[in-house]
Amino acid sequence: MLDDSMGPVGNRGVLARALGRGYFPHQLSWLIDNPLRRLLLTPGQLADRLPLSESSDVLEVGPGSGYFSAELARRVPQGSLELLDVQSEMLAKAKRKLQSGRYRNVGYTTHDASERLPFPDESFDVAVLVAVLGEIPNAQSCLAELFRLLRLGGVLAVHEHVPDPDRIPFEELRTLVEACGFRFCQRWGPLWNYTATFERPLPAKGAV
Ligand SMILES: C[S@@+](CC[C@H](N)C(=O)[O-])C[C@H]1O[C@@H](n2cnc3c(N)ncnc32)[C@H](O)[C@@H]1O
Repeated sequence: MLDDSMGPVGNRGVLARALGRGYFPHQLSWLIDNPLRRLLLTPGQLADRLPLSESSDVLEVGPGSGYFSAELARRVPQGSLELLDVQSEMLAKAKRKLQSGRYRNVGYTTHDASERLPFPDESFDVAVLVAVLGEIPNAQSCLAELFRLLRLGGVLAVHEHVPDPDRIPFEELRTLVEACGFRFCQRWGPLWNYTATFERPLPAKGAV
């Protein structure tokens, strides 16, 4: 059984999960909240790469302790931000962070993103995943779900960076995402620290 009181280095299982495959343990959320992360990607930089308007509906899958979430909520004051994570402990930490900013437009859902997601078709304009997709056992079914949940013309943004052991190389990601019907839009940053965006395409003219 995991025990927070032992501290992060006292629990081998927790460390093994952080360094190997599987979801990043909430006991080590201080690592992903590290201010040095700003050297890789700031919340503002991530938000600038997304096609957000004040009324966008955004789904963040695997927000962890909410490193990027407050900035996303701030950018969509008339829209909404839904945070979905498999670990309720992570969502509790994100909630504490967001409550201090008094955002009223944020929802929290504990759920495994490899399963069917509990939202109706075409609910979101933007879906964003930072250092998450490689942790999801069935990334393909997650991407198919995100395709279902995005509105036509909606955008999926995936950020991957070192030193994440589950990081997906850009070409592999592109193949995976395009196989689900998305169209590649743009890549920012070097291959070791990139954001890639993909669109759920509008139907071709003349298609029924
Ligand atoms: C490395 S952390 C990244 C957190 C955050 N995106 C960030 O960059 O600070 C990965 C997060 O994805 C979540 N996650 C992993 N597998 C998941 C799954 N199958 N369904 C939903 N969330 C998952 C983990 O619980 C964890 O919060």
